[in-house]
Amino acid sequence: MKEQIHEQFKKYFNAEGEFYASAGRINLIGEHTDYNGGFVFPGAIDKCIMAEIRKNGTGKVRAYALDVKGGDYVEFGLKEDEGPKQSWARYIFGVCREIQKRGGVISGFDTAFSGNVPLGAGMSSSAALESTFAFALNEMFSLGIDKFELAKIGQATEHNYCGVNCGIMDQFASIFGKKDCLIRLDCRSLEYKYFPFHPNGYRLVLVDTVVKHELASSAYNDRRHSCEHVVDVIRKSGHSGVEFLRDCDLQMLEGVRPELSGEDYDCAKYVIEEIQRVLDVCEALEKDDYETVGKKMYETHWGMSKLYKVSCKELDFLVKLAEKCGVTGSRVMGGGFGGCTINLVKDGLYDKFVSEAHSKYEIGFGHAPKIYDVVISDGAHRI
Ligand code: GLA
Repeated sequence: MKEQIHEQFKKYFNAEGEFYASAGRINLIGEHTDYNGGFVFPGAIDKCIMAEIRKNGTGKVRAYALDVKGGDYVEFGLKEDEGPKQSWARYIFGVCREIQKRGGVISGFDTAFSGNVPLGAGMSSSAALESTFAFALNEMFSLGIDKFELAKIGQATEHNYCGVNCGIMDQFASIFGKKDCLIRLDCRSLEYKYFPFHPNGYRLVLVDTVVKHELASSAYNDRRHSCEHVVDVIRKSGHSGVEFLRDCDLQMLEGVRPELSGEDYDCAKYVIEEIQRVLDVCEALEKDDYETVGKKMYETHWGMSKLYKVSCKELDFLVKLAEKCGVTGSRVMGGGFGGCTINLVKDGLYDKFVSEAHSKYEIGFGHAPKIYDVVISDGAHRI
């Protein structure tokens, strides 16, 4: 990847730059909990976005994306308000603007980038892109921004320039990722802990439905809105200290049930249960109890499917198939509405599961799924 990037960089800018990369992520458990102040349990993976960058001494950013069909080139000024239209370029533009909003002084730069984080598969290619540039600009312009703030710059880019009111998980994992470790993040206090992840006798495999639902970002924002509404109702019912669903329990939720729509109640129930599942999984992992980890993964899936309603028939099909095959744990990963399932599979079952997932899914949906093995790796770094 590095050579291809450099080839284009040289062609466009006739110069040498510095290389930076930041990773995509998996999440073992804890979905839609981040913006509810709960826990998540992600790790960075061996798939990344990589960019070559150099300062160009102007007030302009000149960027070349290798992965857009036929390549794509964009220029924008650092003082522009509107920014570019191309979605990939808006991530870079947003990162620059968010750095500037925080008082960071940057000038123009040239860049070419590429990546191998599958797009729209729930592995956070957009967070990897934001984190690559946030990390690189911070180093190149000696801005002294701390790592959490870099993650927040990526998150704010999604909110303010890309229309997704996401939580902090993806950018956090992309920046803080560490080889062979999952990270439990408390999204309320921002405390985090690395958990060595060596599932002896098991493998993690992602099965990609290759389904992308167009309305995913508006549906995501709707779910977030439902959660915030429930918090509001609970707070007004006499629990004034409640800030997030993290601060609520099922009893408090039952107390306001008559005031909630069925959908809002279901969403909140899922989130409250999911926050607890993350803690249960961490405890089980410390005892090498993978059976419990897997059981919780299935619970998450059916919670996301039936209560939070962010699954789809292709994902449900793959999870049922995994269950039938005897896979230890399986669930939709990331925001949902398509993308991948994450599967915890015993070594001995791996070949059988992958081949069945492949053939049966193809029969069911007319196209093959994609299979990705992932290795837990380091987050943002200079190469
Ligand atoms: C997307 C968002 C994250 C998180 C997940 C669901 O990946 O970017 O912040 O909310 O969905 O867990």
